Amino acid sequence: MPNPVTVNTLYQMKQNREKIVAITAYDYMFAKLIDESGVHIILVGDSLGNVIQGGANTLAVTMDEMIYHTRIVSRGVRHGMVIGDMPFMSYQASIKTAMINAGRFVKEAGASAVKLEGGASVCHIIQAISDIGIPVQAHIGLTPQSIHKMGGYKVQRDEKRLIEDAIEVEKAGAFSVVLEGIPSDIADKITRSIHIPTIGIGAGPCCDGQILVMHDLLGLNTGYLPKFVKQYEQFSDRAKQAFKNYFEEVQQGKFPSNEHCY
Ligand code: KIV
Repeated sequence: MPNPVTVNTLYQMKQNREKIVAITAYDYMFAKLIDESGVHIILVGDSLGNVIQGGANTLAVTMDEMIYHTRIVSRGVRHGMVIGDMPFMSYQASIKTAMINAGRFVKEAGASAVKLEGGASVCHIIQAISDIGIPVQAHIGLTPQSIHKMGGYKVQRDEKRLIEDAIEVEKAGAFSVVLEGIPSDIADKITRSIHIPTIGIGAGPCCDGQILVMHDLLGLNTGYLPKFVKQYEQFSDRAKQAFKNYFEEVQQGKFPSNEHCY
């Protein structure tokens, strides 16, 4: 297994034009499988509010829930960088709260960086967390924690503002920035305007790296799928079939058979 991924690895990859690969994870077993596949960043996303908790959005996710999931993910990871996603209202109200909560991801959950949503308006928070030695990944464009302000999950097209946001978060000390729901040409301009790596989701191929939600990538998600999702598997069908087979074998008395008995 190669050396653990650090912020320096990611800067170097941007310079070498080597694509950064990121996936979300929420538990030990999947984190281990993802890590063993060589992925560089494992984000414990607050998207767990949707894919683990079944919520309509991410707003109800708490710090304690994020700490729990980040801790069990960290146990499965040896190589990738584990990033803990700061949930809604864990960093917005005051710099002090933001620093304490960012610290919890590192002290209690084994993360080596945190992510938070917002551009120029949260730069004071990015700076404060970064100044205490915790790397911060920013997240601009479509920011799900602002769903009510955006009026839904909408592609963000204000080029001037998006480029300014990216430049400001870099100045504030962010080591990377997620670009979500942004037209490809704008994401390309942003990627070429800053020195820190951009990680795209629904932001086209020119970003320095890509991230997908694990459940989307594996085809575990049977609900609405945004255009940017590519399903590399159809695990929902395969899992349902396995459950049906087990159901039938138990009912027919075929399982357990001799080989499964003591
Ligand atoms: O919460 C999440 O999983 C995210 C990624 C989709 C970037 O923020």
